Amino acid sequence: MTDAVLVTGGAGYIGSHTTVELLKAGHDVVVLDNLCNSSAVALERIEQISGKAPHFIQGDVRDAVLLDQVFKQYNISAVLHFAGLKAVGESVQQPLRYYENNVYGSLVLCQAMAKAGVRKLIFSSSATVYGEEASIPYVETQPRGKTANPYGTSKAMVEQLLTDLQIADPEWSIVLLRYFNPIGAHESGLLGEDPQGIPNNLLPYIAQVAIGRLEQLAIYGGDYPTTDGSCERDYLHVVDLALGHLQSMQKLGTPGVHIYNLGTGQPVSVLAMVKAFEKVAQKPLPYRIAARRAGDLPAFWANADKAQQELGWKATRPLNAMLEDTWRWQTRNPKGFSK
Ligand code: NAD
Ligand code: WQD
Repeated sequence: MTDAVLVTGGAGYIGSHTTVELLKAGHDVVVLDNLCNSSAVALERIEQISGKAPHFIQGDVRDAVLLDQVFKQYNISAVLHFAGLKAVGESVQQPLRYYENNVYGSLVLCQAMAKAGVRKLIFSSSATVYGEEASIPYVETQPRGKTANPYGTSKAMVEQLLTDLQIADPEWSIVLLRYFNPIGAHESGLLGEDPQGIPNNLLPYIAQVAIGRLEQLAIYGGDYPTTDGSCERDYLHVVDLALGHLQSMQKLGTPGVHIYNLGTGQPVSVLAMVKAFEKVAQKPLPYRIAARRAGDLPAFWANADKAQQELGWKATRPLNAMLEDTWRWQTRNPKGFSK
C-alpha cells in the first residue's frame, strides 16, 4: 500500500485548493468530508484540474469508528485537518455546535491517529487566536490572547489540546498554521469559495454585488483609526495558502509544535479592496458606509518572516491576481457549485 495523506474537510474552500496542490506534487490523497458546507462537485473539479482524483469518504471527523476504518484501509502518513465550522456570528449563537465540531472533532481525530500510530498533523488555525489586544503585526512569539467569539476560542482550544498532546507524547510533529484572510480562487475558474446564503466575508460579498446577486456592499465602519477610516486586513491568495501547507509538511519529520503565520504581511483596507475590485470587474460597485460590525478589530496583519525563513514560503500572488481569480470564478460559476 502506498502512503497517503488524509485531508479532513478536503471538499471545502481551502482544503480543495490544497488537495489540488498535493495531487500535483504526487501525493496520494484521501479526503474525508461530511459535505456540511461544501459540494461533491468540488471533488470533480479537483480531478479536472489535477488529472487525478483523491479517494473520497463522505463522513464526519467525530465518527471514531469510521476513522479507525480509514486508518486501517489506507496507509496514512500524515493528516491535514481542515474540517470544522467557521462562521464567527453563528458561533456566538450556537457555541455548543462549534465546540463539538471544532474541538471534539479534533479530539476524536487525534485519538484515532494515536491508535493508528500516525503522529504527523497540520492544523488549520487562525490569526484570531492572537486575540483582541495583541500588538500588530502579529508574530508567532506573541502568546495566544483573549479571543472574541466561540469560533476563535475553539481554535485556541485545539492549539492548546495539540500542544498538551505533544508534551505527553513527544513523538508527535504538529504544525499550527495561523491563516490571515484567504481570498481568491483557482486560476482555472473551476474552484472557489461557495458560501451558503448571504456571505459573511468581504470578498464573496463584493463578488456577489458585482455580479448583481446582492444590491450593495455595507462597509462596516468608516471612522476607524486607519489610513482611510475602513478596517485593514492581510488578504492572501488561497493557492499561496495551499502551497504553504505543502511547504510546512517538511516540518512533519521534526517532532515538536511548529507555529507559522500564513499571510502577506501587507494590510489592505476595505475601501482599497472595493476600488481594486471595481477595476478588475470594470464596473462601479455600489456601497455605503455603515455602522461598525461588533467584534471587528480596526487592523491586523501578519509578520510572515518565520514561514519564509524556516519553510521557504512566501505569498507571491498579488492583490490583482486574487481579485481576477475571484471574478473569474464568480462569473463562470454564478451559482457556485450548484448546477
Ligand atoms: P469550508 O467550510 O469551506 O471547509 C471546511 C470543510 O469541512 C467543509 O467542506 C465542511 O463540509 C467540512 N466539515 C465541517 N465539519 C466537518 C465534520 N465534523 N466532519 C467532516 N467534515 C466537516 O472552510 P474553509 O474556509 O475551507 O476553512 C478550512 C479550515 O480553515 C477551517 O478549519 C477554518 O476554521 C480554517 N480557517 C479558515 C479561514 C478562512 O477565512 N476561510 C481562516 C482561518 C482558518
Ligand atoms: C474583512 C473586513 C469587515 C463584510 C473573519 C474571521 C477570521 C477568519 C477570516 C476564520 C472586515 C469588512 C466584511 C462586509 C465589510 N476566519 N466587511 N462588509 O472579519 O477579518 O475575519 O474571516 O478563521 O477568524 O473573523 O473577515 O471577510 O468577514 O471581513 O465591510 O459585508 O471586511 O468589517 O474589516 P474578518 P471578513
